[in-house]
Amino acid sequence: CGIVAYIGPKEAYPVILKGLKRLEYRGYDSSGVALQNGDLRVYKKKGKVAELEESLVGKDLHSNIGIGHTRWATHGEPCDRNAHPHMSNDGRLAMIHNGIIENYAQIKSELLKKGYTFTSDTDTEVLLNFIQDIQQNNNCGLEEAVRIALKRVVGAYVIVLMDKDNPDTLIAARKGSPLVIGVGKGEHFLASDASPIIEYTKEVVYVNDYELAVIKADELILKNLGNEKITPYITKLDMELAAIEKDGYDHFMLKEIFEQPHTIFDCLRGRLDVNAGTITMAGVQNHIDQIKNANRILIIACGTSWHAGLVAEYVFEELCRIPVEVEYASEFRYRNPIVNKGDVIIAISQSGETADTLVALESAKEKGATIFGVVNVVGSSIARISHAGAYTHAGPEIGVASTKAFTAQLAVLTMIALKVGHEKGTIDETRYRKLLKELEEVPEKVSAALKLNDHIKALAEKYKDARDFLFLGRGYNFPIALEGALKLKEISYIHAEGYPAAEMKHGPIALVDETLPVVFVATKDSYHEKIVSNIQEIKARKGKVLAVISENDEIIEKMADDVMIVPFADELVAPLISVIPLQLLAYYIGIAKGCDVDKPRNLAKSVTVE
Ligand code: G6P
Repeated sequence: CGIVAYIGPKEAYPVILKGLKRLEYRGYDSSGVALQNGDLRVYKKKGKVAELEESLVGKDLHSNIGIGHTRWATHGEPCDRNAHPHMSNDGRLAMIHNGIIENYAQIKSELLKKGYTFTSDTDTEVLLNFIQDIQQNNNCGLEEAVRIALKRVVGAYVIVLMDKDNPDTLIAARKGSPLVIGVGKGEHFLASDASPIIEYTKEVVYVNDYELAVIKADELILKNLGNEKITPYITKLDMELAAIEKDGYDHFMLKEIFEQPHTIFDCLRGRLDVNAGTITMAGVQNHIDQIKNANRILIIACGTSWHAGLVAEYVFEELCRIPVEVEYASEFRYRNPIVNKGDVIIAISQSGETADTLVALESAKEKGATIFGVVNVVGSSIARISHAGAYTHAGPEIGVASTKAFTAQLAVLTMIALKVGHEKGTIDETRYRKLLKELEEVPEKVSAALKLNDHIKALAEKYKDARDFLFLGRGYNFPIALEGALKLKEISYIHAEGYPAAEMKHGPIALVDETLPVVFVATKDSYHEKIVSNIQEIKARKGKVLAVISENDEIIEKMADDVMIVPFADELVAPLISVIPLQLLAYYIGIAKGCDVDKPRNLAKSVTVE
């Protein structure tokens, strides 16, 4: 979910509405605002923010304070009733919430006994009425009631409250879900990330877990749950407004796909020096002995970031000769995992806020592990709980399906492995030098791969009606097959599976017939001859073969029904290039099917609940 709030001399509604649109990637099944002009009014609507906006045309929305929310449903189906803000039974308080209150059922039953009624199925309404109840029973101020309530609550949250009797104050608190406060001149902006704030101020405060903020137009008081004041630490945002706008592209996803030559370049810049033969990464350098001597590397991530982790497994094992395990964060956390002294954990996350990853890291940290973050969003929760790390510097990624963050992750992980392997002496100098050069050439080769745009658009038309897709790859390209399948599922809702190409004959081959498109990620590498055999196995069963291949690969070109030709690259960096046509394929099939590619149904970009 995404939250926005404003207090100050401006009209709150336009600020909040614009902010909600910027945060829509975090969830968009319903949205709402609360405003105050004399009385406290709440407006909410199922569907995208534009539908809320439409329903409010012509209404008097004057207010200098307000809260807004765009939702990704957890408790209760998406509908007007379950949308935020919620109101307390006495009609005095309005609240927005991002996160999950795990013990809400117990609190709800206590409140029901006391005669409270609920209009929604949400945990949020329970927490809000709990706060009202505490305030009445203790005859205390709202701030005190929030503090008491939060001590009882199990779960993750960011909440922002408005109080009808105190129209000049917002109260906010966080644990586990992100909250940024923008500090303007005589005004404050609150949001889940910096994107709704950036056009008004660059001075922000990242609120930490277990902190509570009392915010007036010209005053920001930060406290811990023990009611002690904390000095807000103001940081300057290093982000331009242009980075979060579409820049002439039809969709953020396409813009972000096309940004990759630049984002990969930015990610390598200042780090990779081919002439000197060095990789400069301060975060890695400070912990180099620990990583070099690690008994094991555990990679923890979700979704697309998990796929980057799978590529990294191959790269680290090859270059550093350290055993690597790649874990789904959610599974790792709850099976009492073994974390030994000498294990190094690498956490990969675009948003830096994924709850599954965050809680997995917290528990590993408790067990004494050293955490290394590979994160895109500067100042995010995962970046902050990591002991060290390296930012991917891909810039804000807005399209829900991850593209440029993925290639930046691959670039960073490859550099780390190269640096560690070189210091450890597990890569010989010639190969090391060659790979540095190969990495430097990636942005240019990605540019060349992007020239496939029109060709892939045509392929999308040809294959858009397929019911299922199979994606196959071997070695470094196996995770790219998984990623290609995930992209297609997310964007076009076509069922797609990714598999190691050889493993296909142990099951998925049963699916193959003349209606099944099979996408091979088959650039030239040490597995090439083997994958040629796998293609033959599909052709023999009349499957349709689309293949991502290197230039001058006449063998596969002849066998395949359609090819997507990319520049040749060393197999270790090939995934950075071979994924590009698959991102375009997913995008154009999504478009051909009329899907909302930037906001695919049911998904959210940053999932801050477990
Ligand atoms: C969500 C998104 C995915 C993303 C995953 C991990 O499910 O829809 O696209 O890969 O979270 O996100 P992270 O921000 O941790 O990389």
